Amino acid sequence: MSLVAATGLRKDYRQGGDVVAALRDVALAVEEGEFLCVTGPSGSGKSTLLSLLAGLDRPTRGSVTFRGEALETASSGRLAELRRTGMGFVFQDFRLVRHLTARANVRLPLLFAGDGEDRADELLERVGLAARAGHRPHELSRGEMQRVAVARALVHDPAVVFADEPTASLDRANREAVWRLLSELHTERGLTLVVAAHDAEQVPGAARTVRLADGRMVEPLRRGTDG
Ligand SMILES: Nc1ncnc2c1ncn2[C@@H]1O[C@H](COP(=O)(O)OP(=O)(O)OP(=O)(O)O)[C@@H](O)[C@H]1O
Ligand SMILES: [Mg+2]
Repeated sequence: MSLVAATGLRKDYRQGGDVVAALRDVALAVEEGEFLCVTGPSGSGKSTLLSLLAGLDRPTRGSVTFRGEALETASSGRLAELRRTGMGFVFQDFRLVRHLTARANVRLPLLFAGDGEDRADELLERVGLAARAGHRPHELSRGEMQRVAVARALVHDPAVVFADEPTASLDRANREAVWRLLSELHTERGLTLVVAAHDAEQVPGAARTVRLADGRMVEPLRRGTDG
């Protein structure tokens, strides 16, 4: 069974009298332990696809399953439970809580997960922010906020992390630190990764790339062993 699977996925956004078809007839299966890159130009539907796969939004048509369980018919409580036990999400716009420190933002998923090891400080250190743990978002640079968002997505040891252009605001050294962290968790803990980026070159280590254009999946690309 695939960890996450989508079939016939469509998402329309209504804008006044207009309808924007952000995704059309997308099918995708993500296997446990995979490292998948979702590419495509700006506006092609990457963020829309990630939010549907994570059950953050509901499709206009089609289905998404997580470990075989349909998300579009799940209650909001069940969706929240699946997310807090199995999924991490790095939002393109970070979505940190303004009045909480970096450390408290990273710990947020643990509030709902109950037990579990508190790895917040360890993760902040891994993304180079040990000295910023007590800072609130407005006291952080964009790149620092992005790294807090990455640490938050990992703190509850999820099965899968959906990361939406997670290194877009980072300089080279910090990009490398983030990829090193994600790759290690992928290799050592079998963390499944679904990462959106404009180009596959921005996602070192991804074994498979799918491409979106104007809401449709085009040419599935393979890298690595298949050349
Ligand atoms: N809430 C919304 N209401 C109306 N249209 C939307 C909404 N969200 C996204 N869209 C439209 O849906 C399409 C896909 O948007 P999406 O954010 O998924 O693209 P993207 O590939 O993530 O782009 P980027 O690389 O710029 O982040 C775009 O044309 C966008 O304008
Ligand atoms: Mg996007």
